[in-house]
Amino acid sequence: MTDLSVTIGSLRLANPVMPASGTFSEALADAIDLDRLGALVAKTVMPEIRQGNALPRVAETPMGMLNSIGIPCKGPEAFIRDAIPAFKRFHPPFVASISAGTVTAFAHLARQVGEGGADVVEANISCPNLEADGHAFAVSAAATAHVTKALRAATDGPLWVKLSPNAPNIAEVALAAEAEGADAVVVANTILGMAIDIDHRRAKLGAGMGGLSGPAIKPIVLRMAYQCARALRIPVIGCGGIASAEDALEFLIAGCRAVQVGTATFRHPGAMIHILDDLDTWCRARGIERIDDLIGTLEPFEAPRLPPGEDLAAE
Ligand SMILES: Cc1cc2nc3c(=O)[nH]c(=O)nc-3n(C[C@H](O)[C@H](O)[C@H](O)COP(=O)(O)O)c2cc1C
Repeated sequence: MTDLSVTIGSLRLANPVMPASGTFSEALADAIDLDRLGALVAKTVMPEIRQGNALPRVAETPMGMLNSIGIPCKGPEAFIRDAIPAFKRFHPPFVASISAGTVTAFAHLARQVGEGGADVVEANISCPNLEADGHAFAVSAAATAHVTKALRAATDGPLWVKLSPNAPNIAEVALAAEAEGADAVVVANTILGMAIDIDHRRAKLGAGMGGLSGPAIKPIVLRMAYQCARALRIPVIGCGGIASAEDALEFLIAGCRAVQVGTATFRHPGAMIHILDDLDTWCRARGIERIDDLIGTLEPFEAPRLPPGEDLAAE
């Protein structure tokens, strides 16, 4: 067996594979052994009780899915009372994903879920910042710094900040999160997109636009994860279109310390377990004893050299 364990800050995970927020619940235990996963990540919880967005909330696209779920939520009290104990029946560390419209509400929620038993707080900062005209915290390095600083002050436990691929310069935003005390960044949330039903000339999503996920976004997010891993000292957790061990390996080689799997689980509930098994098989076939040895091992391309006198300038 390959040693698949990885370290994210002070946390040692048995392996680098975990679910992406919003695509997973403890009910998946009916289909797979949740104790095999590196961590368990819950759907984002917000400070208020919310209904979520107008229907329809999901639409298929040729290479992925669009969603505009809008974070329906029963509020933090119900989350702490019902959801946290349900997840804590399993062994992997439990990651509570939180979001809020203001910095103060974000920090308060981090404290609540930390005291409620979450092992990690993952801050989903892709939500609208009500104090900045509704622009997501994650599209601005300054807003990300502001909210991360408040979150860091609110919790002593591991703090992961989940970034948005809709940011104009994601590495700059990631650096702001690192500077204010994040223990890791998750790269990334969904990419803003749209689909139209041409017969009815209506958007396919009730909210008009939504987040694109799945295979379509993998090359874009892989590039962003690589840029962040190059720039940061803290770990990067890759997330976007990962559906196979090969996909996961690309993110690890690019420098990610772990990966999150989202849309792939909707297609195959066993996707994360297959990825884990195939990672082990891939490593063993190549004599790689520790997955850690693969992380950030992307080789630079050497420019091909033509023999002297045969370079382009000679033509
Ligand atoms: C139906 C659905 C719901 C989601 N809900 C959340 C959420 O509540 N919080 C969050 O941070 N990300 C949420 N996401 C984004 C995923 O966690 C992930 O970042 C994104 O889907 C990219 O990964 P993937 O291509 O593997 O799905 C959601 C994605 C989908 C498809």
